[in-house]
Amino acid sequence: MSSEKYDLIVFGATSFVGNILCQYLSSEYGINDKVRWAAAGRSEGKLEELRNSLGAEAEQLTLLVADAADESSLQALCEQTRVIISTVGPYALYGEPLIKVCAATGTDYCDLTGEVHWVRRMISRHEDKARETGARIVHCCGFDSIPSDMGVWHLQQAAQAQFGAPCETIRMRVKAMRGAASGGTIASMLNITKEAASSPELRKELANPYSICPSDHGFSARQHNVTSPELDPESQQWAAPFIMAGINTRIVHRSNALSGKAYGENFRYDESMLMGRGTKGRLRATGFVMGLGAFLVGAALKPSRWLMENYMLPKPGEGPSPKAQEAGFYDIRFYGETANGERINTKVTGLVR
Ligand SMILES: NC(=O)c1ccc[n+]([C@@H]2O[C@H](COP(=O)([O-])OP(=O)(O)OC[C@H]3O[C@@H](n4cnc5c(N)ncnc54)[C@H](OP(=O)(O)O)[C@@H]3O)[C@@H](O)[C@H]2O)c1
Repeated sequence: MSSEKYDLIVFGATSFVGNILCQYLSSEYGINDKVRWAAAGRSEGKLEELRNSLGAEAEQLTLLVADAADESSLQALCEQTRVIISTVGPYALYGEPLIKVCAATGTDYCDLTGEVHWVRRMISRHEDKARETGARIVHCCGFDSIPSDMGVWHLQQAAQAQFGAPCETIRMRVKAMRGAASGGTIASMLNITKEAASSPELRKELANPYSICPSDHGFSARQHNVTSPELDPESQQWAAPFIMAGINTRIVHRSNALSGKAYGENFRYDESMLMGRGTKGRLRATGFVMGLGAFLVGAALKPSRWLMENYMLPKPGEGPSPKAQEAGFYDIRFYGETANGERINTKVTGLVR
């Protein structure tokens, strides 16, 4: 057993996702039983509400008050735990002080961000310190980007075993999916769209598929990017852009770079969503692209963003109902091809919570 008081602290325990995570930890591991954990957040009152919602057995759950902007309160969290999970987002607005303190104190950390520009900033500002202290900082541990990262890794293992070589190309296709975004996810998407609207440098960075690879990555393969409806050769269905592709593809290329280019120097990877066959599929894909375009334009302009934030989209703290969460799922397919033309596919399924 380690010398720290806790194995795990959930920071942002009162968030929509933090609530779900605490319910899960409490029902799977109990309180201070198999896993010693505590719940942290900025509001003592909200933390108490959360503890009450977990039932009588959660009476022993320790509550810790800390503010995302107050490094000394974050330091106090880090000194008591081996790992911190943060659900305090948008991370680009609130996340950096905790990364800085975890890197300095050697505390392991993970989060659910999908904000690729923020991940790049954290790597360039805090990676050296984290290497020095041994802190493991792991971003993007949610739906973006675990299924993509692990799906590609799994397919590459299978390709190596079967053909003695990795796939040079992998196409990820979302075959089916049901789920809705939480308020925090919407706030993060609106924030990145707002930042990008006023910064040509950020738009250029967001378009770079290798933006979070180490600077000496040396990759130059041109990456396909599904931005408009196109016919998918494997399934013969119409494909539309997948909203998470902007972060997932970057994580996959970073994994390739960090694993000594295990997927190869010329590895190509793209993601899209299957919308069906024939005219119906084409119309659905076109409708989706138009809807996505309208959302992005709306989010980039101040008056429409205000309307969206205040009247149309879930607000921070809100999210799908427990019933909708229970019904959530995803079914994604990976189609791989080696440089010699051998083909291999895999399927990844799971529940969206
Ligand atoms: N990758 C995925 O699959 C996935 C899925 C869902 C969400 N997410 C991401 O996870 C994050 C959380 O989402 P969510 O919907 O759960 O968000 P949310 O309900 O809006 O919660 C945000 C949390 O941040 C806390 N917070 C804000 N400012 C703070 C400060 N100064 N100090 C301490 N805490 C502060 C809030 O505290 P209060 O409760 O006191 O207001 C709240 O607990 C978002 O960035 C979202 O994009 C990712």
